[in-house]
Amino acid sequence: MTSLWQATRPHLPTDPFTPGTTYDSVVVGAGITGISTALLLARSGQRVAVLEARRAGDVTTGNTTGKISLLQGTQLSTIIRHHGAETARHYVTGNLEGQSWLLRFCTEHGIKFDTRDAVTYSVTDSGAAALRTERDACLAAGLAPVLGESSALPFAVTGALRLAGQAQFHPLQGLAGLAADLRSHGGHLVEGVRVEGISPGKLKRDRIQVNTPRGSVSAQHLILATGTPILDRGGHFSVLTPQRSYAVAFAVDDESLRDVDQMYLSIDAPTRSLRTAVVDHKTYLITGGNGHRVGRHTHTQGLVDDLVRWTTHHFPSARPVHYWSAQDYEPASALPYVGKLTHSRHSIYTATGYNKWGMTNAVTAALALSSEILGGQMPWASKLYATRIARQDALSTVKSNAGAGLELLNGWLGGLARTSTVKPPEGQGEVVRSGARPEGICVVDGITHRVSAICPHLGGVLGWNDAERSWDCPLHGSRFTADGTLLEGPATRDLAKGT
Ligand SMILES: Cc1cc2nc3c(=O)[nH]c(=O)nc-3n(C[C@H](O)[C@H](O)[C@H](O)COP(=O)(O)OP(=O)(O)OC[C@H]3O[C@@H](n4cnc5c(N)ncnc54)[C@H](O)[C@@H]3O)c2cc1C
Ligand code: FES
Repeated sequence: MTSLWQATRPHLPTDPFTPGTTYDSVVVGAGITGISTALLLARSGQRVAVLEARRAGDVTTGNTTGKISLLQGTQLSTIIRHHGAETARHYVTGNLEGQSWLLRFCTEHGIKFDTRDAVTYSVTDSGAAALRTERDACLAAGLAPVLGESSALPFAVTGALRLAGQAQFHPLQGLAGLAADLRSHGGHLVEGVRVEGISPGKLKRDRIQVNTPRGSVSAQHLILATGTPILDRGGHFSVLTPQRSYAVAFAVDDESLRDVDQMYLSIDAPTRSLRTAVVDHKTYLITGGNGHRVGRHTHTQGLVDDLVRWTTHHFPSARPVHYWSAQDYEPASALPYVGKLTHSRHSIYTATGYNKWGMTNAVTAALALSSEILGGQMPWASKLYATRIARQDALSTVKSNAGAGLELLNGWLGGLARTSTVKPPEGQGEVVRSGARPEGICVVDGITHRVSAICPHLGGVLGWNDAERSWDCPLHGSRFTADGTLLEGPATRDLAKGT
């Protein structure tokens, strides 16, 4: 599966890895969080490197739908329910600052973006009620969307909440622009280097040694911009739910696109996201949705097929040309977790939990983190990011761990119940017993792969994802290719080989 953005990916020059180099800051992860944080630090004169395990933008940032919007589904009503209107106002202030910074950057660097209204629509009565609640939350938080009863979409809606003046872009064009500016300020972007651990030193002032299979570099400050934080020092994995969803880009005749004049998102389940994109002079309709917790859906290809069916039903001329999928992390506290790791004496930071709204939240986090590292503070940041896992999410953590423990046990029992008799059919995989341990066996392009089905993060038992032909962990969302190579998530190692 390759996203429209990856299929039309701009060239992104990179730098060699030089073990032993010392930096002021090392950023781990070259998505929008990592590159924008590194850029802000490099602009202030810091010596900065971004270390990326794969290629820049290969994980969520290159597989998003690229809406740069403050109208974010039910985000504000959820925040108000958890924390009250004042926190929602800080969230809006921070996101507005992130959005303005990004759009200003695009304007100044010739990166194309389209200004669009964002519309959240409902198709049921309960959805219409949820829209009214979200409208009230927006007003309480400082936004002024307009609630109506119709939309230009080619199907009936029960309500439509519209916020004017939002934006959309090609996320990898945006990332390439940020990366080029980072390098022009002396920052390094190194791809193909996975950080496997750190040696922080005994004293608070000691430099942090950042360890990779190709050697180590050191830094005064370390920023984990890895989607979900690696290293487990903050315990974030237990308060984040990894949510995967699907997107398809369709070639359509321009006439049928007249209905998708803005960026749309349904408030009812299953989620439907719609936007158009013009890339290399071709116009596409992009639809997305059918999300679920990573590793908890047995037939993911059915979800892709369903999205295609839904789209072609409403847009009969649509022809699917690019399919993709990605995951983002839903925070138990309803707010992103951004800031210094509480359990570390060292200068280690992270940013996560954007709940599928990272195009604004990541830049907001980058502004907050960079100013904190440089000794300043964004006025809204301390209030917005005051949520500390230990205090606020204690209950969710307990619940989440209990669910994870059950999932772990079920995975082991399920895997151990089956023995390997016949190979699965092409494109399929299953977990079977090999001695006393679960093993994954799959067949992809005629090749049979056998891998340990135990996640190297914290021992979850993996399941097969038939849409993406990957092994996915239901606990905290680590994913691996058919042959066990790590793709994403909090794990830092590949799967062990099977027997
Ligand atoms: C289907 C979908 C649609 C979305 N649509 C929108 C949208 O329209 N608007 C919006 O605002 N948001 C959207 N989002 C959310 C948004 O895309 C994400 O929040 C954002 O891209 C996250 O960026 P990031 O930089 O934090 O993470 P990522 O882009 O995932 O970057 C993390 C990087 O860290 C690297 N990494 C991980 N571990 C290591 C390691 N050990 N060593 C070195 N590197 C490592 C990874 O390889 C990766 O490149 C969507 C999300 C999904 C899933
Ligand atoms: S991702 Fe944590 S156990 Fe697999």
